[in-house]
Amino acid sequence: MLQSTRKLRLNEFERDCMRKACQFNAQLMDVLRPYVKPGVTTGEIDRIAYEFTVSHGHRPACLGYPGKKKPFPKSCCVSVNDVICHGIPGDYVIADGDILNIDLTSVVDGWHGDQSETFVVGQAAALARAVTQCAFDCLYLAIDAIRPGCRVSDIGEVIVAEAEKRGFSVVEEYVGHGVGRQFHQKPSIPHAPTRQARQERLDPGLCFTIEPMINSGTRYTAEDKKDGWTVRTKDGGLSAQFEHTILMQETGPEILTLTKHGPQRGHKF
Ligand code: MF3
Ligand code: CO
Ligand code: CO
Repeated sequence: MLQSTRKLRLNEFERDCMRKACQFNAQLMDVLRPYVKPGVTTGEIDRIAYEFTVSHGHRPACLGYPGKKKPFPKSCCVSVNDVICHGIPGDYVIADGDILNIDLTSVVDGWHGDQSETFVVGQAAALARAVTQCAFDCLYLAIDAIRPGCRVSDIGEVIVAEAEKRGFSVVEEYVGHGVGRQFHQKPSIPHAPTRQARQERLDPGLCFTIEPMINSGTRYTAEDKKDGWTVRTKDGGLSAQFEHTILMQETGPEILTLTKHGPQRGHKF
């Protein structure tokens, strides 16, 4: 019943391919970071992401990615305030006090690097900073909780415990995922424990994302009926997310989508 994870284990050459794809993706995030400021539109950020990616001979995985109703129309997701994920970049003008997530996925020589980062724009409310901090801390707590051969559910256990301790909730409908030659592949990496996740292990050589979405209010979500993509909090509360692509090495997890320019472990927002 459960898919064997053996086929998903990468050899040394394949691990280097993933390192390369993820490092390109992380450098793209470095390029975009200075543009996240009041007055810039989310469409401008998308255009810069597209230009940088194709000018280096790579491809944005989001552009044309198949959805339930229609393909995703842009090169990255930009999700502001009550948008949990899959926000479509456009005319929205970034404002002081926003929290804004950029989710980037690049295809480099057929391999996918996937990461996201939430930005606190200017002087934001304490609640906006707190939910962003919680999502960031939950990602690192999960990374610190996993070891080769551990259960996938170890991730959801620590994330739910921390989020609830801080009075926040964890989105369940959207999950982390195996990543490699495909954008989304097995195993599914839920951010709350499930029966399936208790039966699956993170073996050395597996590549996957951890990408907790933390809501200030309830965990419930609503998908935009018109655009078929934008996912918002049902109660209108705030939502924040961070994502890294992780390679489980024989010695422990290696974060592939990191450069020295982004928020580092322990960062305070
Ligand atoms: N990057 C998202 C993830 O972390 C998926 C975005 S799919 C898109 O899995 F089509 F909306 F771009
Ligand atoms: Co992503
Ligand atoms: Co992802």
